[in-house]
Amino acid sequence: MEKIVVTGSCGFIGYNFIKSNSSNFKIIGIDSLNNAYDKKLKDLRLLSLNDEPNFTFKHLDLSNEIALDKESEIFENVSTVLHLGARAGVRQSFLDPKSYILDNTAATANLALNVKKYKIKKFIIASTSSIYGDTGVNYAEENKDELENPPSIYAATKSFGEVLARNILEDTNTTIQIPRFFTVYGPFGRPDMSILRFIHWISTNQEVIIYGDGEQKRSFTFISDIISGLNKLFSHDDSGIFNFGSNETWSLNQVINLIEKKLNKKAIIVNRERAMKDVDIVLPSLKLSKSLLNWEPTTRIEDGIDATVEWYKNYKDELKEIKFKYEYEK
Ligand SMILES: NC(=O)c1ccc[n+]([C@@H]2O[C@H](COP(=O)([O-])OP(=O)(O)OC[C@H]3O[C@@H](n4cnc5c(N)ncnc54)[C@H](O)[C@@H]3O)[C@@H](O)[C@H]2O)c1
Repeated sequence: MEKIVVTGSCGFIGYNFIKSNSSNFKIIGIDSLNNAYDKKLKDLRLLSLNDEPNFTFKHLDLSNEIALDKESEIFENVSTVLHLGARAGVRQSFLDPKSYILDNTAATANLALNVKKYKIKKFIIASTSSIYGDTGVNYAEENKDELENPPSIYAATKSFGEVLARNILEDTNTTIQIPRFFTVYGPFGRPDMSILRFIHWISTNQEVIIYGDGEQKRSFTFISDIISGLNKLFSHDDSGIFNFGSNETWSLNQVINLIEKKLNKKAIIVNRERAMKDVDIVLPSLKLSKSLLNWEPTTRIEDGIDATVEWYKNYKDELKEIKFKYEYEK
């Protein structure tokens, strides 16, 4: 069985990838279990991952070069490193830039050095729609102009991570693939992202905080579509950058309406000042993902929200303990 490393294994996307691929690979998961959002949710994911027979977990901070060196035998005979470990989120990045530099830039460089040392065939580095500028629509992978001035600290650290990895691996045979995800949601999602927070706040009769008037539109992408995109990369041999996002946009207000209908409850909405650098609309170009990977999102948002609400209901007791607000939001 092929051996792969998945970083950020206890995060939202890492967890879902491993759950759907644990019979295909021998997987070593790495995660620092940091406190970027409530760690209890990461512990819950890890508990569930430990049921998988082909999964081994390493509690490691990839920005700590010395700790990583001590464990470097992890990378022996590994065919692919799927790097999902990161500190995500635009707003938080302005409050805690140093952590973003360590977790997104230093960690990615340390990992790339091991990919080089162990001659690993493929390095997949998760990236984000946030690194595109504020043109809003038709974000295309090859449009370099938009990438010259990353619009946030999160974007800058993710973008610099990509650049460092490419440079470190320049004279090697490693295939580098960079999937750029667009606003992912679904079961075991992040409590700092809109859809899960809206579901939680409406379910528990709490105020639903919206930054701005709620008319900003996003390419909400269901987790199973992201996993199918990652699976396509495993069977694609060439390096490249690929957008993985929904081909239609929904406003926050529309999403809240869908959740209200599903829960049969009205949201108590509180509008706060719009966040810095928040763009009106985000929509990817899927030209390369379609033509080179034959990938397209297939989940209708109504179905994605239904599945997320059903998951939320099943995990209601565990989720009662999870914090859905940052300190500064109180
Ligand atoms: N969820 C989205 O909508 C979205 C959108 C665009 C891009 N992405 C990217 O996808 C990837 C996964 O995102 P996610 O939503 O699963 O986020 P997540 O925060 O749920 O998962 C990331 C995991 O990485 C771990 N981590 C962070 N720094 C680490 C370090 N130094 N060493 C080891 N582990 C570390 C965290 O503890 C966390 O469990 C990230 O690279 C993120 O930038 C996510």
